[in-house]
Amino acid sequence: VLIAIDGPAGAGKSTVARALARELRFCYLDSGAMYRCVGLLSLRAPMRPPGELAREANIELAGSRAGSARGRPGETSAGDRVLLDGRDVTDAIRAGEVSDAASRVAADPEVRRALVARQRELVARGDWVAEGRDIATVVVPDADLKVFLTAGCDERARRRARELGSDAAAVLAEQRRRDQRDRARAHGPLAAAPDAVVIDTTGVDARLIVRRLAELALGASASG
Ligand code: C5P
Repeated sequence: VLIAIDGPAGAGKSTVARALARELRFCYLDSGAMYRCVGLLSLRAPMRPPGELAREANIELAGSRAGSARGRPGETSAGDRVLLDGRDVTDAIRAGEVSDAASRVAADPEVRRALVARQRELVARGDWVAEGRDIATVVVPDADLKVFLTAGCDERARRRARELGSDAAAVLAEQRRRDQRDRARAHGPLAAAPDAVVIDTTGVDARLIVRRLAELALGASASG
């Protein structure tokens, strides 16, 4: 079973996707972490073509590794670490400049080709909740359940600012720039799949959304 959760920055994807994976005992794929790793590499080596960096990078996501290699789905909550070429970059990839770099390299078709291929390999076996921008439209168009989460701009900025401990106005400007770039790119743009369930999370408790999605997932796996 594969559940795809797409949407703009700060729409609540990570919170909801993680909690849903835990509840259903599915593996969890944070595809954004992969683009962030390539963004970080491109900041360190600005002269290297991002596609090359993406192909060479050894990206390990604790949740997906635990699920695929050791058969312990759902164990992603506590130590959700991201390793890049063997180094822990979990915190480094959350910096504002890395968010920006991630969305810049994410427009490169070579980068997308490399990362989409890895994402498909990962989710080929087992049960997954995968989140990103193009999971339902490009990575797994035949996902059992497709969800597109949205939220008002101000709320999205407030949430992210709270997480990062930074200023909401600055976060709002950064998110606008990133969403615009993510929507406008030619390859794998941020968009809802035609058959996605669209949910506006503005002012809604994440637990309610998780419950609703768990019900939908049950229905989808029963009929599929
Ligand atoms: O989800 P997150 O904010 O961590 O993603 C960082 C950036 O990675 C996004 O702004 C987007 O440009 C890119 N991304 C993408 N496709 C995905 C996931 C993330 O292009 N499936």
